[in-house]
Amino acid sequence: MTEFEPKIVAFLCNWCAYRGADLAGTSRFHYPPNLRVIRLMCSGSIDVVYVLKALLDGADGVLIGGCHPGNCHYQNGNYKAIRRVQVLKDVLRQVGIDEDRVWLRWIDASEGKLFSETVDQMVAELRAKGPGSMRTSWQLWQETAGCQLSGIEARPNK
Ligand code: FES
Repeated sequence: MTEFEPKIVAFLCNWCAYRGADLAGTSRFHYPPNLRVIRLMCSGSIDVVYVLKALLDGADGVLIGGCHPGNCHYQNGNYKAIRRVQVLKDVLRQVGIDEDRVWLRWIDASEGKLFSETVDQMVAELRAKGPGSMRTSWQLWQETAGCQLSGIEARPNK
């Protein structure tokens, strides 16, 4: 039996986490090839809709990487990311979705090793959890809603 390989969408800040990923590559720190990277100018520009969309489209986990607090190139973008991710996690928890599939991590441009360790750790945890349920639930909801909508008959205005 082949081991489950999680798909991870990684939103990485251009100035720190993305460069940390770059350094991991040039330093030849190995990490699993499970990431699909999307570069953002700042972790503060993450919109929770992007994260939800990734999960609905089949990502098993989402990694958001930014500069360490105090090092954001746009002053306080990473503090905005903290608040947004916290709200998102509250919502996920309330609707019964595993909030621990979304990681927010601070990785500096000089921390290639930390980047590769973070990816290793995330992949290991997601392998243990198994596939994300959100895509299946979303498809089920769409099918159910589709059935209900097709049952609605148009009535002439009186
Ligand atoms: Fe990196 Fe804002 S520029 S988190």
